[in-house]
Amino acid sequence: MSINTEIIENITNTFSQTFGEKPAHIARAPGRVNLLGEHVDYNDGFVLPAAIDRATYVAFSPTDSDQTTLIASDLNQQVSFSPPTIPSKTQLDSSPLPEWAHYPAGVMWALTEEKLSTRAMNAVYASNVPRGSGLSSSASVEMAFMIAWQTVGGWTLPALQQALLSQKAENQYVGVNCGIMDQFASACGVENHLLLLDCRSLEWRSIPLPDYVAIVIADTNVRRKLTSGEYNKRRAACEQAVQLLQKELPIIKSLRDVSVDDFNRLAEKLPEEVSKRARHVVEEIERTNQAEALLEAGNIQRFGELMNECHISLRDLYEVSCPELDVMVRIAQSLDGCYGARLTGAGFGGCTVNLVAQEKAEGFARSLAQGYQSETGFQPEIYITHASNGAELID
Ligand code: GLA
Repeated sequence: MSINTEIIENITNTFSQTFGEKPAHIARAPGRVNLLGEHVDYNDGFVLPAAIDRATYVAFSPTDSDQTTLIASDLNQQVSFSPPTIPSKTQLDSSPLPEWAHYPAGVMWALTEEKLSTRAMNAVYASNVPRGSGLSSSASVEMAFMIAWQTVGGWTLPALQQALLSQKAENQYVGVNCGIMDQFASACGVENHLLLLDCRSLEWRSIPLPDYVAIVIADTNVRRKLTSGEYNKRRAACEQAVQLLQKELPIIKSLRDVSVDDFNRLAEKLPEEVSKRARHVVEEIERTNQAEALLEAGNIQRFGELMNECHISLRDLYEVSCPELDVMVRIAQSLDGCYGARLTGAGFGGCTVNLVAQEKAEGFARSLAQGYQSETGFQPEIYITHASNGAELID
């Protein structure tokens, strides 16, 4: 069951206590885990995420006042804003919006830019997507408010358009230069399926996950900060690689257009660090090219090997891993039933994703937790997840 009744009860109670009536609606938007295609979405590549069964929930009702009041129940904080206060990132009393409120406020900003109604609402939200863990807690907040404003605004947009507007909110309002993968997965998730997205054409399809494999998420409990600048540096290195490679290959528009053979031939023309970053992207896109056929043929063994190769590449070429992620991956790969293990999301801490034989998954999770804790001293959180549906109204 991917609906968390405890969170819903809590936000409903907080809503009733604060606003003196029951909320009219509840929206839910999931986090995501990415199986293959890491750091390629902003290089026009292919990604293979799934929406997970952890999500942000918003209890909300439209109001006739022009002020939107939001409560972040996990943080026990409240803000009030309206469209005129949004560009200055302030509240109605002119105090600055706290950082957590930039996500919902950013969605309001992006919708206003599109001339879509953002009718005022009262809302209480909470999430069980751990923050800063590589599972797209931000995208899940954005998409939950996207559904809320769609509901009170009386308009409808296709899920992919909603994802693009949420990405715009994150890029231009929050100020994180992310690709489309996270918002896409939160918007378009399909139960028990992986999602294969072409980040250039935005065409996508869902691929069933065989029922004999489980997706296990292992949280190192080491936290990163995506805005720290490392992410943007990786993007800049990719752009620099394209500019330099265009001298030899004038038709390329992004690293998506560079074959592994061409890259091998031209790599020495790039500065060393740029070459490492670009090699990861070119080879990772090649791995994702093989993924669809492997999954369709049920060749989970080989697919898992691609995940393992991806981790090595993220660690040594893209340099976005950290010692704790490496320990988690090394132990996982040594355990019975594990097809593949690697860091997931932007990196620098957070979670690993593991593809594990279903009947071995419980034992795998226990042994992984023990091994990781005794080696690092950190207590991890390890759970079997289910691919879930995308953002939706659940009442
Ligand atoms: C973050 C970004 C995504 C993507 C991943 C890395 O999650 O938000 O757009 O770039 O990192 O694959």
